[in-house]
Amino acid sequence: MRDTPQPLLDVTALKTVFHTRSGDVHAVNEVSFDIAPGELVGVVGESGSGKSVTMMSLMGLLPKSAEISGGEVLFQGRNVRGMDRNDLLAFRGRDVGVVFQDPMTSLNPVFNVGYQITDRLRKYMGLSRADARKRAAELLALVGIPDPEQRLRDYPHQFSGGMRQRVMIAIALACDPKLLIADEPTTALDVTIQAQILELVRELRQKLDMGIIWITHDLGVVAGIADRVLVMYGGQIVEQGPVAELFANPQHPYTRALLETLPSVTEERSERLRTIEGQPPSLNAAPSSCSFAPRCRHAFDRCLRENPTRIDVGPRHDAACWWDPATGGPRNV
Ligand SMILES: Nc1ncnc2c1ncn2[C@@H]1O[C@H](COP(=O)(O)OP(=O)(O)O)[C@@H](O)[C@H]1O
Ligand code: SF4
Ligand SMILES: [Mg+2]
Repeated sequence: MRDTPQPLLDVTALKTVFHTRSGDVHAVNEVSFDIAPGELVGVVGESGSGKSVTMMSLMGLLPKSAEISGGEVLFQGRNVRGMDRNDLLAFRGRDVGVVFQDPMTSLNPVFNVGYQITDRLRKYMGLSRADARKRAAELLALVGIPDPEQRLRDYPHQFSGGMRQRVMIAIALACDPKLLIADEPTTALDVTIQAQILELVRELRQKLDMGIIWITHDLGVVAGIADRVLVMYGGQIVEQGPVAELFANPQHPYTRALLETLPSVTEERSERLRTIEGQPPSLNAAPSSCSFAPRCRHAFDRCLRENPTRIDVGPRHDAACWWDPATGGPRNV
């Protein structure tokens, strides 16, 4: 049963393959999830687990070498993969706002920040030049940039890293999106600035009613802001659940390993660099066994024969694993 009659975003069995010279890369394998209006969902997983490609796939923003080989993406009930060019541009420009890790790759260095915000407002919201300018200054103020009217004249390089990320968030919020996708937006920032940006997102959530997908490799970040968490591994969602439930009752050995890598408050800094042993899986074929098996201390014969399906383990909580942490033995499915 769903919490809402119609999710904001509903993704079913999404599959994305890159065709490369050295063979196919199965980057996204049957990924299904939904986002309710106003919900903040954290997406976690090691580098290469398919977080970014999943989001690029559902936005239709993949490079030419990639092919969506299956699945459905519904945004407010509308089929995104079936949209014509105009609808797709409006979907990307107005309905969804995106913030990337490195603002320098998405901000245009040759235009001042004011132009980059007003251009979007005029294109998608039909605002006049003067109204767009006024709204742009309001947006900079909303994301906590001092002297917003003056700063509209500045170019991206005139902002510090943290301020540039705020500018990116302002641009993403320009057209009142119903969904914000933030792809590791704080990873490149130092810890203090990262905390400020997270605080800003908490405040914005109170003010603006929008769904948020927050991608990070840091489960600690998710703990502080998310309602729900999706855990990705090898291009699949291996566990998802409400944040408190997932932290209190993690089911998948990969989630449990991620939680073990989180530093406790009392630990010395040197111990913070713990990682999960072993290599990420090869994505050269669609998985026919559990991709985590080579790194899993609980693996048994079934894990090597059958890729686990997602099994309901609690309210809105499921895990793709044949092992049951409650008994320490195979799941009864
Ligand atoms: N342009 C590309 N060509 C081939 N493979 C790619 C390309 N982009 C991403 N991939 C592969 O897709 C997988 C998922 O990547 P990505 O979604 O960027 O991971 P994440 O965001 O979780 O770090 C990786 O294994 C990566 O090698
Ligand atoms: S299915 Fe088996 S190998 Fe995979 S995570 Fe669960 S116990 Fe480990
Ligand atoms: Mg990524």
